[in-house]
Formats: sequence, C-alpha cells, structure tokens
Amino acid sequence: MAYFPQLRLRRLRRTESLRALVRETKVEIGDMVYPLFIVEGSSIKQEIVSMPGVFRFSPDQLPREIEEVAKLGIPAVLLFGIPEHKDEVGSAAYHPEGGIQQAIRIIKQSVPELLVVTDICLCEYTSHGHCGIIVNGYVDNDQTLPLLARTALSHAEAGADIVAPSDMMDGRVKAIREALDEGGFQHIPILAYAAKYASAFYGPFREAAESTPQFGDRRSYQMDPPNLREALREVEQDIAEGADIVMVKPALAYLDVIRRVRDTFDCPLAAYNVSGEYAMVKAAAQQGWLDEKRIVMEILTAIKRAGADIIITYHAKEAANWLKEE
Ligand code: PBG
Repeated sequence: MAYFPQLRLRRLRRTESLRALVRETKVEIGDMVYPLFIVEGSSIKQEIVSMPGVFRFSPDQLPREIEEVAKLGIPAVLLFGIPEHKDEVGSAAYHPEGGIQQAIRIIKQSVPELLVVTDICLCEYTSHGHCGIIVNGYVDNDQTLPLLARTALSHAEAGADIVAPSDMMDGRVKAIREALDEGGFQHIPILAYAAKYASAFYGPFREAAESTPQFGDRRSYQMDPPNLREALREVEQDIAEGADIVMVKPALAYLDVIRRVRDTFDCPLAAYNVSGEYAMVKAAAQQGWLDEKRIVMEILTAIKRAGADIIITYHAKEAANWLKEE
C-alpha cells in the first residue's frame, strides 16, 4: 500500500476532466420520476404555495405538461389525485371516471411511451384523511385491503403502467397482486412504498393533496423514524408478497436505510425525495442562502450514491434541464 508522499489523492482532482474520469456516481435523467398532482375539474393549473414550481393540474391541462416532461427525457410520472368529494370510504379513489383514471387515459393518449405510475392510497379521498377505513377510531387494516386492490385495478384498467401503494397497510401488496392478476393485469408491476416512515417531511404534500388527517396522525401505520432493522422486515415482506420495485421514503434523512436495503436485497430500489425536502431547498434558494443547482445535484447524487436506482423528485424537470446543459 502506498502512502504520502508516493500517494497523493489530489492528483486525480486537478482538472474537471480528471475528476469526471474517476467519478463514481452519476445522476441520469433516466433515473428520475416526476410527481404530478391532479385535481378534478377543468382549466386548473394552480401553484402549491409551499412547493414553488409545482402545480395542481386538472386532467385537460395535462397534455402540455407531460409533453414537456417527456421532451426533457424524464421517463415516468407519478400521479396523485385530489377529488372534489371525499367520503368515509374514499370512493373517488376507485371510481372508473375519477380524476386519476381520466388523467391516466389522457396521458397515455398524448404521450404513450411516458410511464404512468399511480399512487395507491385512500388518504386524499377519505373525509377523515387517513390512509384506510376507520373502525372504532382505528385505521382497520384488513377492511382497507379490498379498497386498495380495487383502486389499483381501476388504475390498471385506465392504462397505468405501474401501481405504487403508499398506504402502509400490512398485506396490501399481496391483495393488489391478486386483484391485478384476476383482472388480467399479470404484466403490471407493483412499486411498493416498502419502508415509509411517519415523517414531518410530508407537510407540504399534505397541503398540495389536502390529505392531512382530521384526527390523530399516521404513526399507527407508517414506520417509526428511529427504526432501521424494521425497514428490512418491511422490504422483505413486500418482496415476498410480490413487489417488483421497493421504495424507501423520505430519502435525505434516511440514506442509511437506502444503503442497508440496497446491500440486503437485489430488487430495484426507489427513493422518494419528498415534498419537505424540496420545500427546504426552494425556501433557502429564494432567500439567496444557497446555490439551488449545486444543492439539488448534490442531493440527487447522494441519494444515488446511497444505492437508489430510481429517484422520485419534484426537482426532476429542473435537474433534467441542468443535466442537458452539461
Ligand atoms: C399518501 C402519500 C403521502 C406522500 C406520498 N403518498 C403523504 C402521507 O403519507 O402523508 C408524501 C409525498 C411527499 O411528501 O412528497 N399516503
């Protein structure tokens, strides 16, 4: 082993060409998924206050937006729905003519090659804002499963390419897999939000999706942030139930979880760079307190270096533009 003065690690850092030659991690446009919020109605394009640059779109406004996304080379979008009417059982989530179902059809008609991933959860659709059915004041796991399965099936019927359950009920991947298979959708993959933590980083999303729980919080179903070994059990369980891709969420405060999952399982791994992570960067950049481009690329690179194959990020469009400039 050579040591200083034979070894000088600065030799390979002297010029950008040298640094590029030995660079270990590269973020690519093809790794990114861009989330979109869909509202029912028409002619709506409304910016989300705590997420500058991110909008809610009505289905008719989508073609322009997704043409831009596809032109930038972003391979996939992730859809979240905000219905006009919410009820106890989240019926708008699985209505065949719901906002998301319409949006899927519109996207597949205008840009067929763009992958449409759909979030499977009830929280945006329930009057109480929880991710499942309430029985005696508690989110009931097993009664929620058929509704999640029905939602996933309705998305597949509308043309979704991948379904992504984010509810954190036990057994949802199995329930969704069975429903898809029975419905003739054996070919549709499941991206499971496998290790999803009960995180304060979802704050801006809840404003965007109007999905704040009306009582209590999500800690009886989402994971406790201090736990790492439990994340491995969640991922193992979801893979056993049939998940094709697994996810860790949020990303930045959970890079250790991403690394452990990557080292333990061979399944493709996604990480969700969530709304609060985006809002922090935007707020500081607006104040002129940090260099937005450099910060975003450093964050995305860190998520990849930790082991994620796929990054779901609200920065996708800006990052794609920056990557093109290089
Ligand atoms: C729905 C869901 C949430 C997010 C994705 N799917 C919110 C939550 O669990 O409260 C958060 C995404 C983000 O913050 O960007 N269950």
